[in-house]
Amino acid sequence: MYKNENYFPLNNIDNIHQFKALFDFATIGIIVTDKHGLIINFNKYAETQFGFSKDEIIGKVVDVLLPTSAHARHVQYREQYYKHPEPRIMGHGRDLFAQNKDGSTFPVEVSLSHYEIKEQTFVIAFVIDITVRKSHEAKAMEQTYELERVTAEIKSMNQELEQKVEDRTKMLREALTELEKSKEELNLAFENEKELSELKSRFSTMASHEFRTPLSTILSSAFLLERYNQPSADGKVEKHIHRIKGAVEGMKNMLEDFLSLGKLEEGLVKANMELIGTSSLNAILKELLEELDGLLKDGQRIEFTFLVNKAVWIDRHFLKNIVINLVSNSIKFTDESGVIKISSTIDNNDFILSVEDNGIGISEEDQQHSFERFFRAKNASNIEGTGLGLHIVSKYCELMQGSVKMKSTLDHGTTVSIYIPQLTAE
Ligand SMILES: Nc1ncnc2c1ncn2[C@@H]1O[C@H](COP(=O)(O)OP(=O)(O)OP(=O)(O)O)[C@@H](O)[C@H]1O
Ligand SMILES: [Mg+2]
Repeated sequence: MYKNENYFPLNNIDNIHQFKALFDFATIGIIVTDKHGLIINFNKYAETQFGFSKDEIIGKVVDVLLPTSAHARHVQYREQYYKHPEPRIMGHGRDLFAQNKDGSTFPVEVSLSHYEIKEQTFVIAFVIDITVRKSHEAKAMEQTYELERVTAEIKSMNQELEQKVEDRTKMLREALTELEKSKEELNLAFENEKELSELKSRFSTMASHEFRTPLSTILSSAFLLERYNQPSADGKVEKHIHRIKGAVEGMKNMLEDFLSLGKLEEGLVKANMELIGTSSLNAILKELLEELDGLLKDGQRIEFTFLVNKAVWIDRHFLKNIVINLVSNSIKFTDESGVIKISSTIDNNDFILSVEDNGIGISEEDQQHSFERFFRAKNASNIEGTGLGLHIVSKYCELMQGSVKMKSTLDHGTTVSIYIPQLTAE
């Protein structure tokens, strides 16, 4: 036992006084009830909590200290507790309220305990008024809510900011793409420029090479003609004149092709559309075909069908050039037994001109490239040409908003048709 000079043993009476003081001066409400729930003791602190004096509350059932709405439930609780009394805290997990004499309620925390005297069970309730704590809790809760609200606000501001950053990044990215696109366009323009200059230099090389053959032919024929210098009986003079004419014609066409291509590539050529009546159109085509007659190989012939029944909207110069190119191809790529059929008509509001032959044809693989610059099919390598004619034809058609199509079967023949859209009645 703890001992010091202040320690002195208490007698029974002192003990009772001490416990009474403990009961009376405790800063917690203490209420003692018997097994019927009747209040048998009520300390001073409980008097201040509930507004009842000890005298007026003694003998009353404890339920009067609870809000009326809790009475019925409390009767059950208290009966159960008397059956199995044990020290515990009341109202676990829910808020408990007590009722003051004036009818006002206040939040409380209650712990229960019990003791027995002479086989009678008494229950002690220790009551703490938690109004202040509750108000602190409510404030804390309010602050938590406020904190959550501010956090949510910051979060949404953050999201807005992120969205703005994302939008700006997107704009920047778009600007960058735009920049890259213009860079690509610039590159493309540069490539085109480069290609054009390559084309020109390629032509000069090719032209000097290609011009050599016809020039030496012209030279030798002219030389021989000089030697004959008299009317020839066996037609040798005529033959050489014919060769000279053919060679010069070839060079002229080649030069014309190149000049047209150069102008086309530089975008200098514009379609000069005019309305040509049927008889004028027929006359133009006939005259042209008569000129081309001179290029026919022995045994070849031209068949011309004219089915156009209304005036045609076309560029006269382009049309002539197209016909010359297509017909000279047919002459070139068809042998002596060749028949070249030229037909012109109007169908589905298109002026259609077709040139058909029964010549060497083009393989399907080569057909896909036949409108490309300098393209020559495999089976044409032994036949002279630069591979520019069809490309120029396609460009002329494009300038007249039209198109060109080729149908061909290897060793059987080829048909090339142009389609030039016509103005509607309005
Ligand atoms: N009627 C045809 N029959 C067979 N092959 C053809 C015919 N027309 C064109 N081709 C093929 O298409 C290629 C391209 O024709 P294109 O007219 O452009 O060139 P080219 O006649 O060889 O030369 P150029 O017309 O410049 O003198 C020809 O080299 C040839 O292989
Ligand atoms: Mg050609």
